[in-house]
Amino acid sequence: MKKASGSRHPWPIRLCHWTNVLVMIGMLMSGWGIYNASPLFNFTFPAWMTLGGWLGGHIAWHLAVMWLLFANGVSYLVWGIISGQFRGRFLPLSGHALWQDLFSALRLRLHHRGSDYNAVQKLMYLFVLVDGVLLVLSGLSIWKPVQFSGLVALFGGFDRARYVHFYAMSGLVLFTVVHVVMVILVPQTLWPMITGGKRSADRE
Ligand code: HEM
Repeated sequence: MKKASGSRHPWPIRLCHWTNVLVMIGMLMSGWGIYNASPLFNFTFPAWMTLGGWLGGHIAWHLAVMWLLFANGVSYLVWGIISGQFRGRFLPLSGHALWQDLFSALRLRLHHRGSDYNAVQKLMYLFVLVDGVLLVLSGLSIWKPVQFSGLVALFGGFDRARYVHFYAMSGLVLFTVVHVVMVILVPQTLWPMITGGKRSADRE
């Protein structure tokens, strides 16, 4: 079964995706360094997992890469909405399709059809989009708590916003681990994400 030809992953998606991978590495590593200066939990991250060398350096990296995250995130969101790619790729997502695909996934029978994402993929991508927005909003709250006092109040105070930021970061890391494991399990998805590939609804 073939669909209209064209690129499976248009270049703006690929550009934003791979820029985002670099941005995430920078944000996570510098963020873990900042966390270590005042840990919320009973652990810190090893120094080799952090970026910046010292607290001032961690903060400088975090805020510098933040602007790249902002530009890249806004480009991805605006282009995705205007081009209709978001609607086409991530919606509709019905509860029925989700149960069916989750069940197939558990039996290792979940099919993969190019950028015609299955319901489990749709759910994961929608999750990481919402999680990313939460991460940015909670980050803004703890960066400029006076200017964004309304946001801080929405999170229930500065300390709670810090926890939300940490949990949203953990959600993103969890997504990335599952996402990369899926790419390893279905490696033929990787090359089209680099070159664009051909759009087809053939099963993989
Ligand atoms: C080295 C790390 C990564 C690799 C190798 C990777 C690889 C891929 C591949 C191959 C696809 C296409 C999947 C398919 O065709 O079924 C994809 C899609 C996607 N990835 Fe990643 N990814 C990585 C990291 C990330 C990170 C860190 C995020 C977000 C925080 C992310 C978010 C997404 C999203 C949202 C899509 C769907 C894009 C769209 O269709 O608009 N990825 N990734």
